[in-house]
Amino acid sequence: MGYSAPRGTVDILPGQSEKWIKLEQLLRTIAANYNVKEMRTPIFEHAELFNRAVGDTSDVVSKEMYTFQDKKGRYISLRPEGTSGIARAYVENKMYGLPEKLQKVYYMGPMFRYERPQNGRQRQFHQFGVEMLGVESPYVDVECMLMAVTVVEALGLQNVTLHINSLGDDASRDAYREALKDHFRDHLDELCGDCKARFEKNPLRILDCKVDAKHPAMKTAPKTIDYLSESAKNHFDKVCSLLDDLEIDYVIDTNLVRGLDYYSHTVFEIISDDPKLGAGATVGGGGRYNGLIEEIGGPATPGVGFAFGMERLLLALDNEEDEDEDGLDCYIMPLGEEAKDLAMQIIAMLRANGFTCEMDHVSRGLKGQFKSADRFNAHFSIILGEEEVKNEVVNIKCNHDKEQVVVPLENILAHIENHLSGGHEHE
Ligand code: HAM
Repeated sequence: MGYSAPRGTVDILPGQSEKWIKLEQLLRTIAANYNVKEMRTPIFEHAELFNRAVGDTSDVVSKEMYTFQDKKGRYISLRPEGTSGIARAYVENKMYGLPEKLQKVYYMGPMFRYERPQNGRQRQFHQFGVEMLGVESPYVDVECMLMAVTVVEALGLQNVTLHINSLGDDASRDAYREALKDHFRDHLDELCGDCKARFEKNPLRILDCKVDAKHPAMKTAPKTIDYLSESAKNHFDKVCSLLDDLEIDYVIDTNLVRGLDYYSHTVFEIISDDPKLGAGATVGGGGRYNGLIEEIGGPATPGVGFAFGMERLLLALDNEEDEDEDGLDCYIMPLGEEAKDLAMQIIAMLRANGFTCEMDHVSRGLKGQFKSADRFNAHFSIILGEEEVKNEVVNIKCNHDKEQVVVPLENILAHIENHLSGGHEHE
């Protein structure tokens, strides 16, 4: 009997995990550069949190959530996104009371959505997300966008565009909702069942319906930007002028509403035209969510953030830069049982001194072992035959300059260090 991984999940194997580690390190470096600290929250939360925060009319909650009852009958969901958990933890840990008003955090990890798997879309996928909580200011919106653009630039991604829009404040959205209802009322019969329900509960969601995307009424729908209150318009104008001052390219995309319900004011997406992802794929997105913390029981607290799909970042990166795989420092090649005992001593000593090492564990001849040294791209091969064991020496070959020398056991470390630092004197 064989098992396969559940549909929409992927094993990350050695050879691929190195790319993940590189990406993660780069993201951590950028986060430090922006003074954003890591925060880790549970992978599962009470289902009610997501119903509340993301919204039960969103596809993410109504169709894509992995929800189950635990042994006590509680409804638990695997997190479909990171913002809700961060918001919950922010309130629960009273982070709003910290002396520093603006709390900037990031997270990296798996998220779960029951979607139809395809290139760049999985059921278990990973996000790198950033949340900036506590301050309502267009400067903070722009700091978020700037950070997202920095990520894209640091990775050298080509063909990406920053799309922005504003959903405005409560007053703007109330006015906009009414305008949308007036617009879609005459087309209700032609729209799908979901959209009919959305019309009553949350007409904004009609705009990102996948079924009705091509309906002509979508194109002629009113635009959020025409319904902004004065203060919401001022906020958005300031965001745009800050982006202009920083010479960050963007397009105002009046159809951008995002798929989660918690947004207000600025929303943005980074869209890639890389054919590997399929045209128009979103690599990352986010926006402001001033009502969220209050919605889940905290004090009124503004917030803004974004998340990138890490698989999508890696897909867009693929081929753009070939990995120069890091090799081993030493590959130890024992010939015979006695040599293996000694090899074990040598490898332990070298590792304790910070060298990355491997040894042969399958008792092969020289030829097979040299092949491994090659595959591991080892700087040094340390050969230990019967003769060497008897004479208490090893044969060290530098695989870069091909120099091969016999070295007494006690001088192995000194020889390697000396060779690496450029000195080639013979022991
Ligand atoms: P989102 O747009 O739902 O936003 O997801 C962010 C990114 O996650 C997407 O742009 C995409 O790259 C990636 N993603 C989403 N679903 C999948 C999937 N099934 N497979 C692979 N990648 C996927 C959020 O999740 C918000 N929490 C972002 C945010 C943070 N807004 C404010 N703060």
